[in-house]
Amino acid sequence: MKVINFGSLNIDYTYKVDHILIGGETLSAFDRNVYCGGKGLNQSLALARAGIAVWHAGSIGRQDGQVLSDVLSASGVNLEYLKIIDNIPSGHTIIQVDQSGQNCILVYGGANKMITREQIYQTLSNFSKNDYLVLQNEINEIPYIMELAYKKGIKIILNPSPIDEKIRSLPLEYVDFFLVNEIEAAPLAEGNTDLELLDNLQIKYPNSHIVMTVGSRGAYYANQDTREYHDIFDVDVVDTTAAGDTFTGFFMAAFLEEKTPLECLRFASAASALAVSRAGASASIPLRKQVINFLAKLSS
Ligand code: RIB
Repeated sequence: MKVINFGSLNIDYTYKVDHILIGGETLSAFDRNVYCGGKGLNQSLALARAGIAVWHAGSIGRQDGQVLSDVLSASGVNLEYLKIIDNIPSGHTIIQVDQSGQNCILVYGGANKMITREQIYQTLSNFSKNDYLVLQNEINEIPYIMELAYKKGIKIILNPSPIDEKIRSLPLEYVDFFLVNEIEAAPLAEGNTDLELLDNLQIKYPNSHIVMTVGSRGAYYANQDTREYHDIFDVDVVDTTAAGDTFTGFFMAAFLEEKTPLECLRFASAASALAVSRAGASASIPLRKQVINFLAKLSS
């Protein structure tokens, strides 16, 4: 079993601000940092730091992308299928983080939107039945990637983030694992409460595993036979960037190690708690041993 993540890589320009800007406002930031990020890169790092061997496929710019490949290599992510493109900038973002750690993100796709069908075909020719494909929504050609993966029997893990109107036109019936928050779940199924949303997602995608995080209210898992819930671990929030990516990577890592759904939720919730207590995207993603120590301290 192999895991391939076809996803974005961004340079995150992160500004610490008093409050998130409103239209027409000019505001001085009181700190700026540059981090490696991108939902794809963050999820590959989370999987790798949780102990899973992962291949990252995608595209970066030759002029500015080295820092992105370096951070993945340093955590042991396989970059055989990462393409370097001339004369195109890597994906990048402007992130505002306010005093309470909440953020807002402006994304410029750059090289992330230059994925070609030939690149996808060649990459997926190295994967087959019973392998796993991780996808988010920051690269182009997602419908083609899903079609090809499905034909090959590769299991699809979809985190439809950032959510947009195109998500509903994807072949969602091919998805084996949905990892969503309540905002991403809303366009996929109806429901006025967390449980209604979860019920309706499960009814709509009866053969899928559904994992739904609901911010400070915790996280749910549902499939046809089982339903589980785990609360958040209460920590001081510094920066919520990449908390969802960390959750996705650690949940899937535990699942692939055949832990129970409740154990997966617990492991992923602990990893996200550590992530939100630190600044930055990839920089905030913990190591497996740090998550294990965090959980051990709670029970001692
Ligand atoms: O999920 C967090 C990520 O979203 C950031 O790292 C940023 O690059 C955006 O893609």
